[in-house]
Order: sequence, then C-alpha cells, then structure tokens
Amino acid sequence: MTANDNRHVIAAADPTALAEAAAERVLARIAANSGRVAICLTGGSGPKQLYQLLARESYRNRIPWQRVHWFIGDERFVPASDPLNNMGLARAIFLDRCAPAANIHPIPTATADPADPDRSAALYEQELKSFYGADALDDAHPLFDVVLMGVGPDGHTASLFPGDAALEETTRWAVGVPRANVEPFVPRVTLTLPTLASCREMLFEVAGAQKHAILTRLFAGENLPANSARSIGETIWLVDSSALPENFRGQ
Ligand code: 6PG
Repeated sequence: MTANDNRHVIAAADPTALAEAAAERVLARIAANSGRVAICLTGGSGPKQLYQLLARESYRNRIPWQRVHWFIGDERFVPASDPLNNMGLARAIFLDRCAPAANIHPIPTATADPADPDRSAALYEQELKSFYGADALDDAHPLFDVVLMGVGPDGHTASLFPGDAALEETTRWAVGVPRANVEPFVPRVTLTLPTLASCREMLFEVAGAQKHAILTRLFAGENLPANSARSIGETIWLVDSSALPENFRGQ
C-alpha cells in the first residue's frame, strides 16, 4: 500500500500487531548491519509496547547489544526520572537492563538550563558528530540505521511543531525548542529534519482512534511537520486499523 508520495504505509490489525511488526523491522535493520548500529528512539506513548517487546527474551536475545547504540529524536526539559522524559522512559523499560551504559546517548536536558535549550542541542550535535566521525552528513553513509517517529494531534513529529522555525533548519543537527505546542509545555530539544532524514529507515508508529483525524489530514497531503519528515532511505508508516484513514482501509 503506497501513499501518493514515497512513503510506504503498512497496516496492522491492532497496537500489539503494530508493535510486533515494528520490532521485526528494527531487528531486520540491526541484522543487516554487521558493524556498529545506531537507532534513534522517539518519545510519547507510541513506542512503549515496542520497547517492552525489545526487553522480552525472544527479542532481546536477537540483539547484539554491544554494538548497538541508542539515541533519541527529541527530549523534554524534565528530570531524567520523570515518566515524561523520553530517554528516561526507554531506559526504564528496556535500555538500562539490556544495553551497555556507554551505548545510551541521551540529550542532556535533565541537568541543563531550560532557559537555554540551544545549549543542550549544541552538546548533542557534538556528540552525534563525534559518533558519526564527520561534521557533515553524507547520504552515502546514513547516521542512523533506524529512526523511530510518532505523530502528535497537531501533526508534529519529534519536537518539530507546525510553523516553527526549527522546520527550516538546514545546518544545525539539533536545535532548542523554547515553546512546545502540546503538553507537556516545557522547552525541548529536537533533531532537525536533515538529521532525522539521515537513516536507512524512518519508521512511524501510529495507533489508536485518537490518531485517525490527524492521519486523515496528513495522508491528504496537508503541509504539517510529520509530512516533511522523510528518510533518505525508506520511510515506513506502520498504522493500526483504528487510526487508518477510510481510503486506506482494505487496500
Ligand atoms: C515528544 C515526541 C512526539 C511524539 C508524538 C506522539 O517528545 O513529544 O517525540 O513527537 O512522538 O507526540 O506521541 P504519542 O505517541 O504519545 O501520541
């Protein structure tokens, strides 16, 4: 099933089937790379079930944890222990039990000054550049193997909100976002579109009837941040049946 652009839409029966399909895709990308693997995680509640699966023995045993590195696409200025901390949630569900600490790369917001989110963004940009081994992204060598994404009710993705200047950024790898458009209304740091695009696969997970309205707008081609996020490789939208717009059902 293909939308009217280069995104590929895959329907799942329900959120559980969707999480299983996402886990298999992540494992396939890891298996395809015999070297150092980089996965960019996402925030929100969407990836929770996927994270739980990755911690489960049957999946966990298939991951070469020593050579897989975990990053995050955006972060909120909340304490690391707050359930609203994106990397904090991933750590609590699976990373702290499974991954070597040196392979976990959080955005430094927990100890940073919320009045200066650009500072945290600059630090993360440095960390990404040093991991990548160059100051400029090269399409022949994607930064990430997989970038996970979600969609908010206003069409935002990562912390790229409609109308925000961050959407136009072409130079910086990460930027500060002083004001969020949705809860929690705290400053954030987000990777920029070119950074998120530098991946072999961008994988959106969208589930639940509450996502139906925004997906209908997005798949109709409305100019919203989630429609601007594209991988230089594959862009996959995994959508469960309750979120899927009518004209995509049964295709
Ligand atoms: C964030 C996110 C954000 C999220 C969507 C969907 O930090 O807010 O990374 O882009 O993915 O808002 O969130 P839900 O999965 O909770 O609906």
